[in-house]
Amino acid sequence: MPEESPTIRIATPDDYESVAQLIFRSHTISFAPFASEEWVSTRDLEAYRSRWQETLANAGADDTTYVALIDGEIVGSVRVAPGGSTEFDAQLTGMHVEPDLTGHGVGGLLMARALEFISERGFEGGELGVIAGNTGARRFYEAHGWTLVREMPNGIEGVPVVNYKLG
Ligand SMILES: CC(C)(COP(=O)(O)OP(=O)(O)OC[C@H]1O[C@@H](n2cnc3c(N)ncnc32)[C@H](O)[C@@H]1OP(=O)(O)O)[C@@H](O)C(=O)NCCC(=O)NCCS
Repeated sequence: MPEESPTIRIATPDDYESVAQLIFRSHTISFAPFASEEWVSTRDLEAYRSRWQETLANAGADDTTYVALIDGEIVGSVRVAPGGSTEFDAQLTGMHVEPDLTGHGVGGLLMARALEFISERGFEGGELGVIAGNTGARRFYEAHGWTLVREMPNGIEGVPVVNYKLG
């Protein structure tokens, strides 16, 4: 872990390339132990670029992506936006930390900012989905106050997924 502590800021549209690369790397490396080999090998970086270019360009007052930076480089991300099961709940997605920097508190700083945003914007609560086998992330969410509400054994494209709720 570099000596400089991470800073957290709101992502701008210009950050799309760095965010796309970060999440692509995290999916490739950190998801390998529990995602299918086929899923990992069939992803397309260009699709990540398009998705994040559009997401960051269309962000609004209730739809914000935070990034963590060390030495000017984006090393973590999280997005909070409307999209929970009710119109009053936020959805948390895109929580990723650079694979060789996990476990050093970067995710905790991003989560703290995301939780502040959920409260500041007046959302009633929050929701998120995570691959059931991603036990590290599940521990992380539980440590930050999220509680398991639903298990979906058939999940998405056959991958078991679980949902967590805040509030
Ligand atoms: C989940 C994640 C965002 C947490 O960020 P982080 O910076 O590693 O977390 P912190 O250092 O603030 O907190 C550490 C806690 O996170 C959890 N954790 C999850 N994955 C971890 C990993 N690969 N390495 C270390 N800790 C991890 C553990 O609960 C750990 O606490 P513990 O050591 O007491 O068990 C990050 O590990 C990550 O990007 N993982 C891969 C991508 C992912 O699974 N994203 C969630 C998609 S739903």
